[in-house]
Amino acid sequence: MEKKQTLKSSFFGEDFLWGVAMAAAQNEGAYDSYGKGPSIWDQFSRRQGKIKSGHKPYVSCDFYHRYKDDLLLVKALGFRVFRFSISWSRILPEGTGKINKEGVAFYHRVIDECLKLELIPFVTLYHWDLPLALEKEGGWTSHLMLKWFNRYVTFCAEEYGSKVKNWIVLNEPFGFTSLGYMLGKHAPGRMGMTNFLPAVHHAALAQAEGGRILRKLVPHAYIGTTFSCSEVVPFSEKPDDLSAAKRVDILMNRLFIEPLLGMGFPREDFRFLDKLELYNKAWKYRERYSFQADFIGIQNYFPVVVKHNPLIPILNASEVKARTRKVNHTAMGWEINPESFYRTLKRFSQYQGIKEIIVTENGAMFKDELRDGQVRDQDRIDYFQQYLSALLRAKREGVPVRGYFAWTLMDNFEWSEGFHARFGLIHVDFKTQLRTIKDSGYWFRDLLTGK
Ligand code: BGC
Repeated sequence: MEKKQTLKSSFFGEDFLWGVAMAAAQNEGAYDSYGKGPSIWDQFSRRQGKIKSGHKPYVSCDFYHRYKDDLLLVKALGFRVFRFSISWSRILPEGTGKINKEGVAFYHRVIDECLKLELIPFVTLYHWDLPLALEKEGGWTSHLMLKWFNRYVTFCAEEYGSKVKNWIVLNEPFGFTSLGYMLGKHAPGRMGMTNFLPAVHHAALAQAEGGRILRKLVPHAYIGTTFSCSEVVPFSEKPDDLSAAKRVDILMNRLFIEPLLGMGFPREDFRFLDKLELYNKAWKYRERYSFQADFIGIQNYFPVVVKHNPLIPILNASEVKARTRKVNHTAMGWEINPESFYRTLKRFSQYQGIKEIIVTENGAMFKDELRDGQVRDQDRIDYFQQYLSALLRAKREGVPVRGYFAWTLMDNFEWSEGFHARFGLIHVDFKTQLRTIKDSGYWFRDLLTGK
């Protein structure tokens, strides 16, 4: 048997940021308590057939009540960074205007607890749970979105900025604009280009404006925003497949980072995006789309293989799933490919203007089973082992990777997959809320504490 390289956290350097991530709508629960207003996910999960088995994020992992114990677990596993998101509708129940003091106090408690445990709080401002009241006014398709978002960011910066120095503006703008406003698979469940294009425009502006507000209001802040990144591989060398892959790559990898870097939207090779310019008069905003972030967050799970498909409108492309290609994949059907992760890191580091990279999410779903109080998830350990080795290689070759956050602390509400898809380092029994550290959690503890 091939002997695997044994990783040591010291290989990554003393100041490497080892973290674990989660998000409000996936973990907190307490969805309508303590003054919280409804979010688009609370409502979307009520719609027939949208979430597997009709699961709802109402209680989830009950992080709202259990945060103290959960943070002790973060500490016990050896992580230095805790990445979590603020639920906008918990602090501003209607999205704008009235403030919910209890909600505001909750995040103070979480932050204070982190600081007490010497965990670095990394706060994501927007991880997909828009206040429902704002969606009713048009949500991300509305030009008012910027005004609402600016007020929300200003509020958070003024409220928490003396304690929190590390900020992530948006979580994966391509994720929520495409799944939520083009394909209707995620909240708010809207479809079509007339929703997608304005949502893209406003999200691209929000990621930059949010950064600017934080820069102004939070002294010594370390500010970034995240992108979902997937290497796009053409199915064959045929010209049609090559150009299909190029279009998908533009959407999946370039659509949001390039305006942030001051390059405008990537329209060449995909003239359809000209509509963004005409429709939104985007050229007027070129400067406002850009912001000098301190880091960019790369979130990588899998590569995609793409082929020409004339039946798919506009894009003329479709994915050739990992399952049909018979390659190694996770239980989500996502290809396991650490080499592709390595290439992704290399590629993004080549953009001018990127100072540092943090891998703000990476992880895997497997069909974990709790047996005799243990979860033997060797597959996940292998996954982390391989992806971290790939990261180390990229880092040694000069890619400025400053940190790595595993997705995710504990099994949680995995959006349209409900509670079926388990990504956690900690197993959660959703009936009893019992937490059980999986073998992968112990593996991280050993890596990070040098045991
Ligand atoms: C999202 C997470 C999600 C994870 C796994 C990322 O796209 O930011 O919220 O749980 O992928 O699907």
